[in-house]
Amino acid sequence: MAGMTTLGEFIVQQQHAFPHATGELSSLISAIRLAAKIVNREINRAGLSPDIIGAAGQENVQGEAQQKLDVFANDKFKAALEARGEVCGIASEEEDEYVAFSGERGRNAKYVVLMDPLDGSSNIDVNVSVGTIFSIFRRITPVGEPVSAADFLQPGRNQVAAGYVIYGSSTMLVYTTGNGVNGFTYDPTLGVFALSHPNLTMPKDGKMYSINEGNYIKFPTGVKKYLKYCQENDEATSRPYTSRYIGSLVSDFHRNMLKGGIYMYPTTQSAPQGKLRLLYECNPMAFIAEQAGGSASDGYSRIMDIIPTELHQRVPYFVGSSNMVADAERFMEEFK
Ligand code: AHG
Ligand code: MN
Ligand code: MN
Ligand code: MN
Repeated sequence: MAGMTTLGEFIVQQQHAFPHATGELSSLISAIRLAAKIVNREINRAGLSPDIIGAAGQENVQGEAQQKLDVFANDKFKAALEARGEVCGIASEEEDEYVAFSGERGRNAKYVVLMDPLDGSSNIDVNVSVGTIFSIFRRITPVGEPVSAADFLQPGRNQVAAGYVIYGSSTMLVYTTGNGVNGFTYDPTLGVFALSHPNLTMPKDGKMYSINEGNYIKFPTGVKKYLKYCQENDEATSRPYTSRYIGSLVSDFHRNMLKGGIYMYPTTQSAPQGKLRLLYECNPMAFIAEQAGGSASDGYSRIMDIIPTELHQRVPYFVGSSNMVADAERFMEEFK
């Protein structure tokens, strides 16, 4: 169709732009696109289907009650990635351990994928935006061998691609391969993702902060002081800022990227490492943030430089407009 670039076309163009690209990463991203369409279809009719709404009746390894859609999305993304044959294994919020794809194609594949299949799952039953997050690395063990933990425990700076799907008032797929960030909006009448947000950039300054303020009493002093700063009156810096918190990282991040803002999930007394998971929540969103001109920190240093030690490791998280993240870090340092 004139004037429209679909995600499929964009992937092919990108492949041609990089002469050494072999097409494997393109094929992998197509698998994610397919799973996103399937999950989107279920989310759209969630209210009509008792199979989709509500708790699945079991807990994941982190002690969270799994929702039916957590399990559904995990199964669909896992199956799509295994079927395409470009991935040697996956790790997921909803899987205790990493999953090796042990068939011949899986063993010979170059990439691992880490994912949060359904982000913001407490929002499903109330018709509020949710998402999917993915992070892609080249394996470090030799092709042909079974995938190992070391392939998954790489620092975020090694990511070759990362992205998210937001199932919102419209559904979008946003991703980076380290050459900027592009966003595609799903047209359900055509069944295609169309390039709607080329070269996304995040404003350096913003006017929104996103945090679960109900936890205020449990925050570190630096965060409390930064929140006070956000709420003070100062014309020059457009304060007080606006508070916006959806409760799904993908949606809060997406809004802040478009409008300018900061998302924070610091340590709390009850969650001394923070709540968000480094490998499949923080790293991929950090890669996108940096590629859009923003930044991501644990309050003191760069998220993507952390050397992971565990698959489900948690980390305090500050992500968004670079000057806002720098301000938050300044308060963290001052009130250590
Ligand atoms: P998930 O649904 O994948 O477990 O992630 C939920 C995360 C994140 O998306 C969100 O920002 C945060 O948890 C919300 O936590 P609180 O309800 O504690 O604010
Ligand atoms: Mn969860
Ligand atoms: Mn999540
Ligand atoms: Mn999740």
